[in-house]
Amino acid sequence: MLEIKNLVAGYGKVKVLHAVSIAVPKGQLVTLIGSNGAGKTTMLRAISGMIAPESGQITLNGQSIAGKSSHEITRLGLAHSPEGRRVFGTLSVADNLLLGAFPRLTGQRPKGDVNADLQRMFDLFPRLRERREQLAGTLSGGEQQMLAMGRALMLQPEVLLLDEPSMGLSPKLVEEVFATIRRLKEAKITMLLVEQFAAAALEIADYGYVLENGRLAGSGEASKLKNDPAVRAAYLGAAH
Ligand SMILES: Nc1ncnc2c1ncn2[C@@H]1O[C@H](COP(=O)(O)OP(=O)(O)OP(=O)(O)O)[C@@H](O)[C@H]1O
Ligand SMILES: [Mg+2]
Repeated sequence: MLEIKNLVAGYGKVKVLHAVSIAVPKGQLVTLIGSNGAGKTTMLRAISGMIAPESGQITLNGQSIAGKSSHEITRLGLAHSPEGRRVFGTLSVADNLLLGAFPRLTGQRPKGDVNADLQRMFDLFPRLRERREQLAGTLSGGEQQMLAMGRALMLQPEVLLLDEPSMGLSPKLVEEVFATIRRLKEAKITMLLVEQFAAAALEIADYGYVLENGRLAGSGEASKLKNDPAVRAAYLGAAH
């Protein structure tokens, strides 16, 4: 379970998040929606230690992680699939995936069966299996997005943060990514999902939060938020 209370974070003197509180209960899929620039990515960065929070509490299974390094936070079981396809371009697909399991290979996380999980990733993303020896930098944007997600999953995380996993994908691949998230949800992986397709995210999520200019503007069960007139007007639009 991931719990964030009164989180204040930003970049230098620029505050982006103003006392935001959210909870991601074990085994649930929670989505964070909001307009461009609302602070969604900043929120995920502060949780995973990519930026240091200015104040507030962040706990993972009761243990405080606010201010810890991203390395330590990863070791505690939190994986972050960041916005914008951050893969290691000069390494192969398989090596990128294995890097995600690094804390397991070095005894910092329970080892389990890394090779079986690698096969599982290839089952989840068959395109990656075909390209396992290809350099990640030469993958298409959509393939790199899948690789970033697969790499995060290779940690066998207790909590998975997903930042716009469908960004830049064709409609068919967007569907595939949502089907994958649905499968992860069935496997009871605890997830915090940031998505541009807010309607689709609310469709599969248990609970949702709406972020507006760095503040919470609403929250509730995803099925209720989806039908909330204000949420519909502001975030779901006619196109969705
Ligand atoms: N490295 C940075 N330095 C300074 N300001 C930043 C930095 N990264 C983001 N910001 C600013 O912080 C605010 C929130 O950005 P953030 O990336 O968290 O938004 P977002 O909700 O993820 O938006 P989007 O939907 O476009 O991805 C924006 O005003 C942005 O310009
Ligand atoms: Mg973002």
